[in-house]
Amino acid sequence: MDDSLPLKNPSPLDNRLPLESPSLSRRQLLNFLTGAVVATTAGLALYPAAKFFVPPMEGDEGSGILAKDKLGNPIPARQILAEPPGTRALIAGLAGEPTYLTVKEDGALDPMGIVDNCTHLGCTFPWNSLDNQFQCPCHGSRFGPDGAVQRGPADRPLKLVHVKVEGDMIWIASWTEIDPRTGREPWWV
Ligand code: FES
Repeated sequence: MDDSLPLKNPSPLDNRLPLESPSLSRRQLLNFLTGAVVATTAGLALYPAAKFFVPPMEGDEGSGILAKDKLGNPIPARQILAEPPGTRALIAGLAGEPTYLTVKEDGALDPMGIVDNCTHLGCTFPWNSLDNQFQCPCHGSRFGPDGAVQRGPADRPLKLVHVKVEGDMIWIASWTEIDPRTGREPWWV
């Protein structure tokens, strides 16, 4: 199998971490990308992004970066868009943060990406398509499809990023606008 391709439809059990697991190291996060790149679900609650970004060049101050795989190679948009609606694809985003991209019901990518970093103590977490939630294995926090908290101990929504497809590239950029889930300034800005 081509290592550059995200894996499809991992079992939630395969990705589950033990309770009280400490936060993952960067290496562990990259390993996690190997096994939990794509998950699928049905039924999405999606918010439109307030606006798109226009990345002048990858790496420029304040600009976006290309979505990458676990090896650091840009992921072609067609690879993600070939997945069925409801798919959650885990990519390496800003600063290498694992970030979930969602294939919408219309087959396009959701312009809102969800950073895979629990707002309680920073664990990574899988998408549970049966419960339609991101479920943190460390202390049991639950987040909805949009990253809003559905059950603590986490008390802040998951960090958002902008997602935009240009040609066959997927750009990821910082979300600095109002958080559509809270109607307030983002807690991460
Ligand atoms: S790190 Fe504690 S619930 Fe996620």
